[in-house]
Amino acid sequence: MKKRHTDLNRNEIVQGPSPAAIKALRTFPAEEIKFYYDGYNGSALLPELSKKFGVPRDRIIVGYGAEDILRTIFDRLDPSRDTVLLNELHFDYYHIHLHARGIRFHEFRLIPEEREFRFDIDGCIETMRALRPKLVLITSPNNPTGNVLSSRDLARILAAAPKDTLVAIDEAYYGFDDRYEASQFLSLLRRHGNLMFIRTFSKLYALAGLRVGYALCGRNVIAMLGYQGRRLGGSRVTEAVAVAALRSPSYYRALARTITKERDRAILAVNRLPHFKAFGSHANLFAVKVSPDARTAVEKEMSRMPSLVCKFYAPHLLRVSVATRTDMDAFIAMMERADRNAGR
Ligand SMILES: Cc1ncc(COP(=O)(O)O)c(C=O)c1O
Repeated sequence: MKKRHTDLNRNEIVQGPSPAAIKALRTFPAEEIKFYYDGYNGSALLPELSKKFGVPRDRIIVGYGAEDILRTIFDRLDPSRDTVLLNELHFDYYHIHLHARGIRFHEFRLIPEEREFRFDIDGCIETMRALRPKLVLITSPNNPTGNVLSSRDLARILAAAPKDTLVAIDEAYYGFDDRYEASQFLSLLRRHGNLMFIRTFSKLYALAGLRVGYALCGRNVIAMLGYQGRRLGGSRVTEAVAVAALRSPSYYRALARTITKERDRAILAVNRLPHFKAFGSHANLFAVKVSPDARTAVEKEMSRMPSLVCKFYAPHLLRVSVATRTDMDAFIAMMERADRNAGR
């Protein structure tokens, strides 16, 4: 197989999945592949997710990655009537897909504070009241900025949201925030029928190629989406691997710790350089503000080091995926060179 180098622009977890998940993939009993699950209810993954998060299985959606679940939501929108409210600087799939379907969307601000970006919750609520969007979609931790929505802020948004507005929180980067308010968010899910959390096995679980995501839904969401579970069920192989990953919590806790340590080390190093400012993050990525006279130097460096190409999300905002210690050393060295060569 062709050896792939690490890319710092795809937010993949290059360390890979747990040994138990790899074993589940390698040892999947071939004789079982000829069978469907016994209908959607035969899923191995749904009961596992239900038990782990305390959400009834008929309020959990499993999809072909979080992308598939986002698409299910977007496909429900009517371009002639419905609008969407997003935070600015979001995962670009959102606007690419919404544009393609001719659906209007508005953005509320993301404010660059001294240490981290912050969602403008007042702005979000004001726009939501004026617009009555069919969907409010917020990413937390956000891609590309890594900031998070607190349960208090989400409670404020939900209190102001019309009951027929779906409030979807894209938690693709779930698992990297050790201050994540799990019980508060789950209690909001129990209280608000129009709330859903979307997650994926692509990030923390390092299973991007497996293509599996899930959503925990409030009591009205399935009806709001007109969602039909798959009658013939999901992939037996995929679900076996995902279940094994869910059963490896200590591996993933250690992996998250390694990644967040590398992330914080890189942020500190970048912040010693006068032409850059790295923002604090709660995900396996972080954003760096690049001074206008340093952008060309950064691009020049990245053109020499294809494996270190990071993505410019705005003219002067670079998003960096966190990888191994060696990769991050190379990234820091590249930024030091760009800093020295800025303006030349
Ligand atoms: C915010 C966000 N949501 C969803 C996805 C898609 O995840 P999946 O691989 O599960 O389709 C990504 C992928 O990068 C993402 O950044």
